[in-house]
Amino acid sequence: MVCLGNICRSPLAEGILKNKTQNLDVFVDSAGTSSYHVGNLPDSRSIEIANKNGIDLTYQRARQFSEKDFDDFDKIYAMDTNNYSNIISLGRNQSDRDKVDVILNELTPKSYDSVPDPYYGAGDGFQIVYNMLDNACDAIVGKL
Ligand code: 4NP
Repeated sequence: MVCLGNICRSPLAEGILKNKTQNLDVFVDSAGTSSYHVGNLPDSRSIEIANKNGIDLTYQRARQFSEKDFDDFDKIYAMDTNNYSNIISLGRNQSDRDKVDVILNELTPKSYDSVPDPYYGAGDGFQIVYNMLDNACDAIVGKL
């Protein structure tokens, strides 16, 4: 799960998908395309909305996406089209690029809709993001 800062959207996506795949042999992680917040806890607003839904994010620390992630993961979900383009540009070959998709394409294939960045917005942005990611993760789990 990859966003820009790895403190708002992708930590939530990681927590939600981990919660839904507890009984499956699946490893879920998240990262940011930027290094802005490396080592930081998720944003307190993400921690709070996750908590309300019984999901703990406080074990997470932000890290930057790297080329090695193409080796370590079968599927790489970008939260929006900017991050999608940045990840694609880091791909070393077609096999790397084939692993990357925009997460909302799981709900509406090939739509390339973005999960809005809630960082600078009002508080309900995190609820909207949570609901989008919860639905998208249901679709992912349905295919596993
Ligand atoms: P995220 O949100 O990509 O969902 O973690 C953001 C967090 C921080 C910044 C931008 C987006 N920032 O510019 O610092």
